[in-house]
Amino acid sequence: MLTVIEKININNIDKVAIQKATNILKGNGIVAFPTETVYGLGANALEDTAVKKIYLAKGRPSDNPLIIHISSKKDIYKLVKNVPSIADTLIDSFWPGALTIIFPKTDIVPNVTSGNLNTVAIRMPKNKICLELIKSCGFPLAAPSANTSTKPSPTKASHVYNDLNGKIPMIIDGGKCSIGIESSVVTINNNEIIMLRAGGITKEMIQKILPNTNITVKNNEYKNCFDSPTDNICISPGMKYKHYAPNGELFLIRGENDRVMRYIKNNLLLDYKNNTKSLVICTKENIEFYKKFNHLNIGSNHNLDDVAKNLFDVLRQCDDMNTKKIYVQTFLEDGIGIAIMNRLCKASSNKIINV
Ligand code: TXA
Ligand code: MG
Repeated sequence: MLTVIEKININNIDKVAIQKATNILKGNGIVAFPTETVYGLGANALEDTAVKKIYLAKGRPSDNPLIIHISSKKDIYKLVKNVPSIADTLIDSFWPGALTIIFPKTDIVPNVTSGNLNTVAIRMPKNKICLELIKSCGFPLAAPSANTSTKPSPTKASHVYNDLNGKIPMIIDGGKCSIGIESSVVTINNNEIIMLRAGGITKEMIQKILPNTNITVKNNEYKNCFDSPTDNICISPGMKYKHYAPNGELFLIRGENDRVMRYIKNNLLLDYKNNTKSLVICTKENIEFYKKFNHLNIGSNHNLDDVAKNLFDVLRQCDDMNTKKIYVQTFLEDGIGIAIMNRLCKASSNKIINV
């Protein structure tokens, strides 16, 4: 299959290109498109033949449910049985945006979309190209991240192309994703919010809007890192699968900054002597220290939004350079830092070295 790339300027959206993508989606085909978090691989969420093509192209296990993307808040009513008042508040505060909410589903949502669960994950994205596309289709789009299963999520059209070239008919290139990390996934249980995946909307942002609501970050991927690995109750099916991993071995180095830098430098030297291709993913502040070694700049330690935005791109560059060993410092687990550390822990298969 030929994969066509349609470039769309987010500030001047080409209606013809949107129509081409719409035609494919109306014919039960699949299209990759940008969202503000990561690129998605979309299909008509209400047509099981269309949705099945997503699982096939990604190589995704069929029990891992998809998120349904809508273009208007009122679109949820036909997809869900009821909207608890906490969900109403979340929707008013964070949609359009990087927050996915789980609801009990109605029968119009096919079981392939929900991975046979009786619940469905929904979000209204903010990216204008994505919103235009959903509106133009007139039906909601089921879309996981547009990467091959287990690879880092794509934040540029070229990432999608590298993974899915020949497997999908079209990629809409809308430039680099502005957030760069997936949406937060939450479920509501009476008066409690459970965050199943930390992402673009942080616990702190939600707590500010709902100061009297208990918010628990389950984030199993994250729990695996620092808590007992047996404490791995699988609430969000996606959490049990390997994710975000580059081909090379990634090591997370935790400790006081000077010690971390010295440890990494020693290892880079050793790898060099052993003819092992290795590199450090470092912050802008530490580049000078590593300048004689292979390094990739992930952004400033004082701007974790930037680090989130660059994270998946940098992980993919490690593969492009055929790197065998990758060293990364840990980041402050606060705000978006929780999502960053969660993805890094997964990428490292929990290889965390305390120095
Ligand atoms: O930012 C995002 O969320 C991106 C863009 C494209 O919107 N999408 C994305 O989709 O990351 P995906 O499929 O890669 O991740 C969806 C996560 C998975 O961990 C999945 O298991 C979980 O959401 N999920 C989906 N439906 C669920 C449900 N009914 N109950 C619990 N977890 C669910
Ligand atoms: Mg994904």
